[in-house]
Amino acid sequence: MKRIYVALAAALLAACQKSPAPPAPPAAPPAAYAPMPHQPGVAVLTALGRAMFSEPSLSASGRQSCASCHNPDNAYGPANRLAVQLGGSDSATPGTRAAPSLKYLQTVPPFSEHYHDDDGDDSADAGPTGGYDWDGRARSAHEQARGPLLSPREMGNRDDAAVVARLRAGPLAPQFRQAFGDDIFDHPQAAMRGALMALEVFQQSPADFYPYTSKYDAFLRKQTVLTPREARGLALFNDEAKGNCASCHISKIAPGGAFPQFTDYGLINLGVPRNGKLAVNADPNYFDLGLCGPDRTDLSGHREYCGRFRTPSLRNVALRRVYFHNGSFDSLEQVLRFYVQRDTAPQKWYPRKSDGSVHKFDDQPPGLDANVNMEAPFGGRPGGKAALNDREIADIVAFLHTLTDGYSGG
Ligand code: HEC
Ligand code: HEC
Repeated sequence: MKRIYVALAAALLAACQKSPAPPAPPAAPPAAYAPMPHQPGVAVLTALGRAMFSEPSLSASGRQSCASCHNPDNAYGPANRLAVQLGGSDSATPGTRAAPSLKYLQTVPPFSEHYHDDDGDDSADAGPTGGYDWDGRARSAHEQARGPLLSPREMGNRDDAAVVARLRAGPLAPQFRQAFGDDIFDHPQAAMRGALMALEVFQQSPADFYPYTSKYDAFLRKQTVLTPREARGLALFNDEAKGNCASCHISKIAPGGAFPQFTDYGLINLGVPRNGKLAVNADPNYFDLGLCGPDRTDLSGHREYCGRFRTPSLRNVALRRVYFHNGSFDSLEQVLRFYVQRDTAPQKWYPRKSDGSVHKFDDQPPGLDANVNMEAPFGGRPGGKAALNDREIADIVAFLHTLTDGYSGG
């Protein structure tokens, strides 16, 4: 939304320029945000985007909408327990990654290889950070939205023209014309831009996507208290020698006052086990290595980036049915046990090689072990003490449940 205001402001400025020429002309708005022939307001775009988000006639199968994989009742994540969702023109083509929640993405920074935080210590290079999708490859929700509309594993449209043709023939055509002008469908490129803009603006509507209505938010506002178990969980989550979760999943109010998003947006390799349930993994030579490919191609020469995925927000994480980029786990207890046993009891998480040794980090080709993060709660020797015991894991899980939106009462 901010970008749209910037684009509008730039357009207004351009219109108001008087001689003599101003010192520096405002930068031209990016093409995606160039003024539309008929520029609708935010309320109109939000309503249209909301309708489009749940409109199955926009898919090649006629049966799938964004909401099929991003259900509003599941924090805009999947409602089912599948590791990856089915899509495509036959509604049966399996995806390659878990469908994420779409909440609390409003502050995801554009992808950068060398990220410098703007609050706190901005001199430190935090490394690859930001961008949409698990590998950070989409620069904005606008650019991202074209992905699922055209992906052969998702909504399966051949090209932009196919999307516009479906809009034109579908039940949303009158609303679309009302928003963008009667002749909008005579300008397919502008129509596609309008469609993506409506989806993007809807996905930035605060009440739907970042309401900050969890128990933890009420606690931060001093409107409620945590139970003893939740409070112990929070302390363990923050404790650098125990969970150390907050080092990546930020839990504190920012110096500027912004409530935490439970991510620093960093792309990190956790060595998540290979998920044998994924159809793509039937090929032993297929590896989803996130930042270094194959879905993302601009950094494929960077071996040190292989296996890195963007740290997800943990807001509403208790509503998720599968976890991690490949959906390899299906409970929070299991995720927590993986964190603390990956290095102390690897035989519980990875298969054995033919010689009987444990095949650690089995979802990446050999030679990339040095890419895997070793900070607490990871580390320790096989047979050593895990950073968290079962009771402490249960405490953290109780705390994670306070991050679900819609808390009402003390
Ligand atoms: C078939 C299931 C499916 C459908 C349909 C689908 N998505 Fe997704 N969505 C996914 C998956 C899987 C990902 C993760 C992709 C990746 O990381 O490569 C994703 C990622 C996203 C993201 C990025 C989230 C993040 O954390 O960066 C956004 C935004 C998004 N989808 C919006 C949409 C919109 C808008 C639509 C409809 C136009 C849509 N999706 C349709 C499965 C789906
Ligand atoms: C070094 C950074 C880092 C630390 C420390 C860390 N995480 Fe994560 N977390 C990540 C990354 C990166 C992912 C995604 C990894 C992937 O899918 O390959 C993730 C994913 C998760 C997920 C899955 C969420 C989803 O939507 O699929 C949960 C739950 C989670 N972390 C909880 C925790 C908890 C609890 C702790 C502390 C015990 C913790 N994390 C510590 C970086 C970190």
